[in-house]
Amino acid sequence: MTIATYAKKVLSNGVRTFHDPARIKYLLPTDSEERRRLVRQHKAITTTLNGLFSAPITKQLENGITVLDAGCGPGCWSIDMAVKYKNSQFHGVDILGTQFPQEKDMPTNTRFVVGNLADNIPYPDNTFDFIYQRLLYFAFTKEQWIQNLKELHRALKPGGCVELIEYDHRKMIRYGPSFRKQLEAIEKYQVSRGMYPYVNDDLCRLLKNAGFSETTKSVKQQAFCSPEKTSNSIEYTGDAILCAYESLRLGLSEFVPEWRNASAYKRHLQDCRREALANSAQLYCTIHVARK
Ligand SMILES: C[S@@+](CC[C@H](N)C(=O)[O-])C[C@H]1O[C@@H](n2cnc3c(N)ncnc32)[C@H](O)[C@@H]1O
Repeated sequence: MTIATYAKKVLSNGVRTFHDPARIKYLLPTDSEERRRLVRQHKAITTTLNGLFSAPITKQLENGITVLDAGCGPGCWSIDMAVKYKNSQFHGVDILGTQFPQEKDMPTNTRFVVGNLADNIPYPDNTFDFIYQRLLYFAFTKEQWIQNLKELHRALKPGGCVELIEYDHRKMIRYGPSFRKQLEAIEKYQVSRGMYPYVNDDLCRLLKNAGFSETTKSVKQQAFCSPEKTSNSIEYTGDAILCAYESLRLGLSEFVPEWRNASAYKRHLQDCRREALANSAQLYCTIHVARK
């Protein structure tokens, strides 16, 4: 199944499960449908970003270092890295252990541990040479981002490298009116839950305040989605993102009451996709690399 077909299937789906917001801020679902979405999204991102990471760390990975995949979800990044860099050790940490890969799918140089990245990463100081953290945009309040970066700094060895990848949902390029409505509702929802939708504009400063240096920020644009006829060969991150948006319906309907109706919301998301295609909308991905 292509990711576009998958998008259609999930957009028409029903009941989802989530964290208790009083305990955990993360907005996206906790169910197996979400796990499958993350697996497909990983493939799409790796393809569209042309690789698994950007930090200048290839030689060290080949020689053998200790790596943290912070907020690893189903662990796809760790597994792909572990297969490619057999001398290195990969540790995935996530708040949701049910998303981890099955034992049989774990290369011997991987390990997965439950932990809260905004509280206490379950490793001693100065453990990791490289920390990779991708897509925590829907996870933290501003205070939690500050605490998270402090924790990453603590767990990193002196001279070690951190890489943070985030899509900026406020800065998609050339979207249309339905999409604008979607992005405005998401921003309101995040703010109402005490989250920090402006983090991408602030990460350089937050990294510096947490003690990191040599921070670089790069921005990559990529097509949001593809016409149906090419979707057999290319998987697009935008379709996985639309699936994530689908799961936010109940929270968003607080701000757009007509979305309480699942069919109306489904039609709206189809309009978003049509607009993205018609306008060749672009996603805006920020990559921050910094050193301890
Ligand atoms: C959008 S997913 C990204 C997963 C993976 N990094 C990737 O790019 O495929 C975000 C992940 O962060 C995890 N997460 C959210 N809040 C967290 C927290 N406070 N501590 C640890 N993990 C958290 C979620 O359970 C989820 O697996």
